[in-house]
Amino acid sequence: MAESTLFVKKSITQLQSEVGGDSEHGLKRTLGATSLVALGIGAIIGAGLFSITGGAAAHNAGPAVTISFIIAAVACAFAGLCYAEFASMIPVAGSAYTYSYATMGEFIAWIIGWDLVLEYAVGAATVAISWSRYLVKFFGYYDIHLPASLTLSPFTTATMPDGSVVSGLINLPAVFIVVLMSLLLIKGTKESATVNGVIVALKIAVVLIFIGLGWGYINQANYTPYIPDNTGNFGDFGWSGVVRAAGIIFFAYIGFDAVSTAAQEAKNPKRDMPIGILVSLAICTVLYILFAHVMTGVANYTSFQGADGIAPVAVAIDHMGTTGANGMITPAFPWLNKAIIIAILAGYSSVIMVMLMGQTRVFFSMSKDGLLPKIFSEVHPKFKTPWKSNILFMIFVSLFAAFVPSNVVGEMTSIGTLLAFVLVCVGVIVLRKTQPNLPRAFKTPLVPLVPILGIVACLAMMASLPGDTWLRLIIWLAAGFIIYFGYSAKNSKLRNKKA
Ligand code: ALA
Repeated sequence: MAESTLFVKKSITQLQSEVGGDSEHGLKRTLGATSLVALGIGAIIGAGLFSITGGAAAHNAGPAVTISFIIAAVACAFAGLCYAEFASMIPVAGSAYTYSYATMGEFIAWIIGWDLVLEYAVGAATVAISWSRYLVKFFGYYDIHLPASLTLSPFTTATMPDGSVVSGLINLPAVFIVVLMSLLLIKGTKESATVNGVIVALKIAVVLIFIGLGWGYINQANYTPYIPDNTGNFGDFGWSGVVRAAGIIFFAYIGFDAVSTAAQEAKNPKRDMPIGILVSLAICTVLYILFAHVMTGVANYTSFQGADGIAPVAVAIDHMGTTGANGMITPAFPWLNKAIIIAILAGYSSVIMVMLMGQTRVFFSMSKDGLLPKIFSEVHPKFKTPWKSNILFMIFVSLFAAFVPSNVVGEMTSIGTLLAFVLVCVGVIVLRKTQPNLPRAFKTPLVPLVPILGIVACLAMMASLPGDTWLRLIIWLAAGFIIYFGYSAKNSKLRNKKA
C-alpha cells in the first residue's frame, strides 16, 4: 500500500467548505458561547472531583493534592490552547479526528477517531458506574435498598451491614442512566443544552456552597505536613505522590475538549469554540483548586483513607462542625450531604450526556468521510440528531457500564484521552510548519513551546498509568487497525476520489 494513500490528507479548504449550514449537514446550529461554556463545564465537573480527589489525597498526595490539581490544569491548559486553535480553524464535529485528518493524514486520523471511543464512550460508562454508586447511597438514606448484585458489575463485591459479601452480576442503575441520557440526546441538541444548562448551574452552586461553608471550618493543622513524606514507594506521598495524584485526578479535567465536537452545532464556531474550551477549563480549574484546598483543610487527609464513592465529600462535610469535649464533631450542615448527592446525581448525568454526544459527533464525521458505515451519520428527519448512532452507542456504553469494573474503564478513559491530547498538540506543530499562512481565528501562543510542553506533560501522565491499561489500549488500537484495513481504507471517500 502506498504511503501516500495511507497518509492521504484532507485539505483545510475542503474541510472549511464542509462547514456549511443546516441543510448541508443536517445538524442544527443552535449553540452560543454561553451554551458552549456550559457544555464544557457539564462534561468536566463530575466523578473526578467528587469521587477521585479524596482517594488521591488519602493515598498519594495528602493536602498537596491541591498542587496536583494545578499540575494537571497546566497540562490541560497546554492541550486546551492547541484544541482552541484547531477548533477555531476547522470547526467540524469530528474534533481531534478531523484535525489529524488535515495534518497527519487518514491513518493517524483513524487511530485518533477510534481512540476517542475510549475517552467518550468508555468515559460515559465510567461516570455511569459512579452515578449508580451515588444512587444506591441516596436510596440508603431513605432505607430503600436495591439488591447489591444488581447494582455492581461482575468481579466487584460489596460488604453488607451484616458482614456478608455480595458479588455483582449487572449494574442496572448505570444502564438506566445511559439509556435515559441517550434518549434525551436523540430528542435534540437544543433541548439537551437547556437541560445541561440547568444542571451546570446546580453543580456550580453546590461546589461554591461546599467551598463557602467549608472555608470557615478549615483547620490549619490539617495542612501540616503539606506534602507528607514519601513512604519509600514511588507515588506514595512525597513529590512523586503529587505527580501520581496529578495523573489520577486528570480524569477530573476530561471534557473541555468535548466542546470541540459540537462545532457544527455552534452558531459562530470561529469565535465561540476557543471561548467554550478555554473558559470552561479556566472556571473548573479555579473551582477544583479551591474545592481541594477546603476538602483537605476541613478534614485531615488520613480521614479519606478507605472512603469511596460519596464518602470523601461526606467525610469533609461531616468535619464541618464544632468539636465537643469528647472529641466528637457535631456537623454544622447535616442537610448538605443529601443536597450534594442530588447535585452529584444530576451533575454526573450531564457529564454522561456530553460524552455520549461527543462520541456520536466524532463517529458522525468518520462516517461522512466513508471510514465508518453510513448508519453513524444518518440524521433523524424531525429531531435532526444522529439517532441510530445514539442507539448503537447506548447499547455499547450500557454493556461497559453493566459489566466492567469502574477502575478499568476509568483508566482506559484517561489513557485514551491523553493519547488524543498528544496527537492534537503534535498536529498544531505540523500544521504551523506545513501551512503557516492559513487564517487562524485563534492562535496557540508560543508554538512550538506550548504544544511540546503539552506533549511532555500528557506523556508523563500516561506513563504513570499501570501496564494493564497500556495493554488494553494496544488491544483496542489493534482492533481498530483490523477495521481500518478491512473496511475504512476501502470505503474512504477521500482515497476513492484520489485513486
Ligand atoms: N471530568 C469528568 C468527570 O470528572 C469526566 O467525571
